[in-house]
Amino acid sequence: MTERRLELLDAISDLFRDTDDVDRLLQKIGTLASKLARAEGSSILIFSEDRSHLYFKVSRGKTAPILRRIPVSDGVAWWVAQNGRPALVNDVESDPRFTGTIDKITGFKTRNLLCVPIKLEGKVIGVLEVVNKLGEEGFTKEDLQLLSMLSSQAAIALRNAERMEEYRNFFSNSIEIFVKAIETVGVMANMMFPGHCWRVALISTLIGQMMDVEGEELYYGAVLHDIGILEYKELGWEFGSEDPWENAKQHPIWGANIVKEIKMLSSAVPIIRHHHENYDGTGYPDGLKGDEIPLGARIVSVAERYEELLLKAPISGKGRSEVIERIKGMAGKELDPKVVEIFISEVLRGR
Ligand SMILES: [Fe+2]
Ligand SMILES: [Fe+2]
Repeated sequence: MTERRLELLDAISDLFRDTDDVDRLLQKIGTLASKLARAEGSSILIFSEDRSHLYFKVSRGKTAPILRRIPVSDGVAWWVAQNGRPALVNDVESDPRFTGTIDKITGFKTRNLLCVPIKLEGKVIGVLEVVNKLGEEGFTKEDLQLLSMLSSQAAIALRNAERMEEYRNFFSNSIEIFVKAIETVGVMANMMFPGHCWRVALISTLIGQMMDVEGEELYYGAVLHDIGILEYKELGWEFGSEDPWENAKQHPIWGANIVKEIKMLSSAVPIIRHHHENYDGTGYPDGLKGDEIPLGARIVSVAERYEELLLKAPISGKGRSEVIERIKGMAGKELDPKVVEIFISEVLRGR
């Protein structure tokens, strides 16, 4: 095995170690490609969604900002993408596939180039290209083999990115479905107004930003704080039954139990379980007091009281100031005085 192959294998094993950010990963693959092939520059081009052109996903050097805006639908890269075969062009002038379009736009002078397809499950999704071999000689068959090995790593990186995107899409849509379900039950049970979960999440994250509280955890805790009401039916509660509120008091526990099974949301569990605790220890389900209550839950509690009172208040300027006074009155009793103070002085100021 040649020294360069060993270098490549070393680099590949390192490639995925420190990042799952696909853009950085592809940048690293580009850098590695020029280094191993001893080339002046490298780029990764990817098919547009309708496959009408390629675009520069990664490019290095002075021309990079211009390249990113150029759609490519001719030249050697386009030929490789269309045919799924590599191209080793050591004299661009004598190769009919070379059109020079990019050189004309950027002012770059391509002498020779090597371009390999990036394939995912047999389908070409883009190309990896190196240009201008450093020194007198042109690119070699070995360069081509090394580049092909690197292109399969680029394919893995892109496939992972695609999967991650699909997971993200699934996750955010699932949250929306959860919220729809929570609000449907909540509104029918007269426990909330439509949009309650989103509004509480918005106000909570605004307070959280002022208190340096981790955004995601607070956001998911807030948007799903009432998810436990989805269990009502299972426990025999029916709309209009005699004492739904006693039963309703179980919802923070039910909610925490539902969400604790979802690993990605596990940090939101304490917020869900404790969003009805009172600062003075008179709340439920555990009667926690002061700082025993997780900060995220104390924040959601303020957001929720404000939202509820405001929606029930008469629609007038006076209604709002009365609500603020009532919230102030709850500081140190139901609500954390510090959170109330930050909410009123930082979040509501100027709104
Ligand atoms: Fe709520
Ligand atoms: Fe609740």
